[in-house]
Amino acid sequence: MFDKEQYSKRIEWYKNARFGMFIHWGIYAIPARGEWVRNQEEISVEDYQQFFDEFNPQDYNPKEWAKICKNAGMKYAVLTAKHHDGFCLFDSKLTDYKSTNTKCGRDLVAEYLAAFREEGIKVGLYYSLLDWHHEDYPHYGDMHHPMRNNVALKDKVHNFDNYLDYMHGQVKELCTNYGQIDIMWFDFSYGDMRAEKWRATELVNMIRSYQPNVIIDNRLEVSGEGFGSLATNNPTVYSGDFVSPEQIIPPNGLLTDAGEPLTWEACITMNNNWGYNAKDTNYKPASTVIKKLVECVSKGGNMLINVGPDANGRIPNQSIAILSEVGNWMKLNHDSIYNCGIATIAKPENGRITRNGNKIYYHILENSIGSVPLYGIKREEVAKIRLLCDGSELKPVESWIVNNYPEIVFVDISSTPYLPDSIDTVVEVTLK
Ligand code: GLC
Repeated sequence: MFDKEQYSKRIEWYKNARFGMFIHWGIYAIPARGEWVRNQEEISVEDYQQFFDEFNPQDYNPKEWAKICKNAGMKYAVLTAKHHDGFCLFDSKLTDYKSTNTKCGRDLVAEYLAAFREEGIKVGLYYSLLDWHHEDYPHYGDMHHPMRNNVALKDKVHNFDNYLDYMHGQVKELCTNYGQIDIMWFDFSYGDMRAEKWRATELVNMIRSYQPNVIIDNRLEVSGEGFGSLATNNPTVYSGDFVSPEQIIPPNGLLTDAGEPLTWEACITMNNNWGYNAKDTNYKPASTVIKKLVECVSKGGNMLINVGPDANGRIPNQSIAILSEVGNWMKLNHDSIYNCGIATIAKPENGRITRNGNKIYYHILENSIGSVPLYGIKREEVAKIRLLCDGSELKPVESWIVNNYPEIVFVDISSTPYLPDSIDTVVEVTLK
């Protein structure tokens, strides 16, 4: 039975955090054509082996990653402990296909966890349900496997339960050998590969027995497509704790079937790839990242934005530069993000609104001629109005110019045609 009270308690920190860092990293950083390279180019395990043999990220310094994350204003991070290629960034006893057996010889997960915890960042692990390295994961005819078209493997017999034992065993290792894990991010279900096919009830019960407070995504049931039973009146044991829209911000936010706000997290790439892609320089400007974060919060969701470190273990310079700009904005305006959510005032034409209790945050994205309208509040309910970035007072305008619109509160933000922050100027209204 779904325990709603326990659920609400469990996800409280997560809903308040709003902003996290996704980290896709593995030996696919060497071919540098994204983490699906084996699938897309139908590369065999043997031909992919060169990257395992070569892997030696000399510059891997998770303390630096954690600083970048923290300075951007992010409150949590999720690292790929194992992606679809099956390569493990941790010292699993159940496989040889792991970072400790490469030249680098390090447990990359353990070091990441220590470094991020040290900075006070909540830690998550991504774990792929698909495994293109394991003998007993379906090869020929599977929808995604690199060997899906390899007729020579047509009659190969797979003992899928054997794979499931392995997968459950590795998740148990992650849940028992590494201290408190704040998020487990499974990826993903497809076709009939979903739910009890993963032995999901058993898996989640095991996880929660070791990590009672861990937050789990919804992909034991679905992928980025579909919401799963969390959106229904009757969530399963393995429904997960949040919905995971991918490369999209739900146009109208998300509600459960009962019309209640649904917990969700939009995961978004910073360029057009998750794993490192050397030729992809299509980075979103910091202004976009900031505005999209605000959009997520105004619709009641989180944003998990991705970085794809390279083969040497460095987060690309472009990503670092973008995150540092985002951090500059966050330093001045984070009160309008953390602990904030839907304002229940319709989106105004000049921007977006977020809210934390009696504080309403107007994100002004487009300047007005003259005074700026703050929609949806009554003059008599206002206790004070401040420019969030510097705490300076803004007084409701009294003038014949605005008198025709008594149902709107106006403030004068700038004496020039430009807003103080050209990306997003935040006005904080405290209600009585
Ligand atoms: C996908 C992809 C994947 C990526 C993930 C992030 O489902 O398979 O490579 O890790 O989305 O959400």
